[in-house]
Amino acid sequence: MVQVEPLEEGEQPQLATRTEGNTNEAFHPNLYQMAPERVPALHLNLPFILDDLKTETSQKQLSTARSIMKSVDQPFLPPLDKATHVEFLLSPLDEGLSGGFVGLDASRPWLLYWCINALSLLGKDVGIYNDRAVSSLKPLQHPSGGFGGGNGQAPHVAAAYASILTLAITSYYASIGLPEDERLAVYADSFAWIDRGKLLQWLRKIKLPNGGFKVNEGGEEDVRAGYCALVVLALLGYDDEDLRGDLSRGELPLLDGVAEYFKSCQTWEGGIGAKPNAEAHGGYAFCVLAALCLLGDPEEALSKTLDLNRLISWLSARQYAPEGGFSGRTNKLVDGCYSTWVGGCWSLVEAAANAIESGKKSTKMNVGDLWSRKALIRYILTCCQGPRGGLRDKPGIRPDYYHSNYVLLGLSAAQHYYYYDDVSVQSPVLTKSPFRHGYRWKSSKNVPKPTGHDGTGGGWLEGLVSEESDRVGVQHPLFNIPLGAEGQLQSWWEWFNDVGDVDALSSEN
Ligand code: FPP
Ligand code: ZN
Repeated sequence: MVQVEPLEEGEQPQLATRTEGNTNEAFHPNLYQMAPERVPALHLNLPFILDDLKTETSQKQLSTARSIMKSVDQPFLPPLDKATHVEFLLSPLDEGLSGGFVGLDASRPWLLYWCINALSLLGKDVGIYNDRAVSSLKPLQHPSGGFGGGNGQAPHVAAAYASILTLAITSYYASIGLPEDERLAVYADSFAWIDRGKLLQWLRKIKLPNGGFKVNEGGEEDVRAGYCALVVLALLGYDDEDLRGDLSRGELPLLDGVAEYFKSCQTWEGGIGAKPNAEAHGGYAFCVLAALCLLGDPEEALSKTLDLNRLISWLSARQYAPEGGFSGRTNKLVDGCYSTWVGGCWSLVEAAANAIESGKKSTKMNVGDLWSRKALIRYILTCCQGPRGGLRDKPGIRPDYYHSNYVLLGLSAAQHYYYYDDVSVQSPVLTKSPFRHGYRWKSSKNVPKPTGHDGTGGGWLEGLVSEESDRVGVQHPLFNIPLGAEGQLQSWWEWFNDVGDVDALSSEN
C-alpha cells in the first residue's frame, strides 16, 4: 500500500520577507529547471493552428499565450511574491476601502472572507481579526434568520456562507495554542450569538421542492445556493433531526432530493451547469462536487451521482495549452480564479479515483495525477501576480481580492494532494453528523503515482513545490478554509450542544 506523507499538525506555510530592490533575485533556482520535463510538451509552444479571424477574445487568448511563452525562455519561474501580496490584502483590513467600493456594499462578508482567507494562505496569522470579524458580521444577522450582505439587508445564502467561513478562519487562528477553556471562549464569542434556530427556519424558506435551493426569498435557483446552504449547515453543528424538520408543520427535509437535483445539472458536455439545462461552468461544477462530497465518501458520492467519465473529459478540456490555466467553460478564456473552481474539482475527482489512501478495501489501484499541476503553477506564478501585489485573472487585468483568494487557493490545490480518510477514529458526534464525510479529509505534499491493477508500482510524485517559500497553506477541499479549522469548529459545537454554558467561560483571551 502507498504510504501517505501527511503534513505536520498545524503546519503553516513560510511567510517570505520582501527582498527590497533586489531584481536579480526575481527568479529562483530549481523549480523551473525541472519544468521542461514536468510541464507536458504542449505547454511549451504557441498553438500550432491560429485562426485568421481576429476577435477581441482570440486576441486576448493569443496575448495570454504569448505571456506564458516569455516564461518558457526563462531559466526559472518567478517566485510567489508573498510579502507584496500580503500588503495588498492587508490594506482593506488595516486602512479601509475607498469610496469606489460602495458598489460592493452587499458583499461585505465576501470581502472579509477573500482577504482573510488569502492572508491565511500566505502564512499570516489572521487571529487578530477575530474580534473585528465578529463585530462586522453580527449586524448582518437578520432578525428573522440568516445573514445579509450589508447592514439591514435581506438574508442571502452566499452572505451566510462567507460570514461563517470568515468566523471559522479567524476563530481557528485566534485559538491556536490556547488552553481548552480559553479556546472555547473564543468560539463562544465568535459563534454563540448566531441564532441557529432562525437560520434553519430561513433556509427552509429557500429550499425548493425539486431538491435545490434559491439564493434568497424570491431569488434565483442554482447549485451555488445548494452548496452554500450545505456548507452553512455542515459548519454550524446541526444534526439529522434539525435537518429533517417537522413534517406535521409541512417543513421540507432540507437534504431531500439534493443529490438528484445536482445530478440533473450535469450537461451533455459532462460538466455541470447552474441548474438543470444550463451551460456547464467550472464555478457550478465545484459547487456540486464539493456539496456531494459533504454527503458521502468521494468515490461513492461522485460516481453514484455523476457520469464521471464525461465529467473528467470536460474537466480536462478546461486546462488550456500553452497557458496552463483553466477556463470556466467551452470557448472561453483562461482565468486565474478557475484555479480554484476547476482545480478544486480535480482535487475531489482525484481523491475519488485514487482511493487507496482512504483505507478502502474495495480499491486496489491509483490512477495518479489527472491534470498538469506544474502547468497551472507556471500560469499562476508567471501570469497571475500583479506587479504591485494582489493576484489576477490574467496579464493586463488588475488584481482584486476575489482573484487573490481564488488564485492562491488554486495554487494550494496544485501544490497539495487531498484524500479522504475512512479509517481514522472519529469523535462520536462527528460520526453522527449528517456531514461526517466532510470531516475526513487529509492532505499530502506529494501526489500518488499510478499503480497497476494488482496494486503494484505506485509511490509518490514529488517536487510539486521545490522552493518551500512558494508553498501556500493547506485548505479544506470542500469548505475552502484552512484544513483543520473545520474540526476545531465542530468540536466547539460538540461542547456547545452538550454543555452550552457559555456564560461560565472566560472571555479573557
Ligand atoms: C461567468 O462569468 C461566471 C459565472 C457564470 C458564475 C461562476 C460561478 C462561480 C464562480 C461559483 C461561485 C461559488 C460560490 C460558492 C458563490 P463570466 O462570463 O464573466 O466568465 P467566463 O467567461 O470565464 O465564463
Ligand atoms: Zn476570474
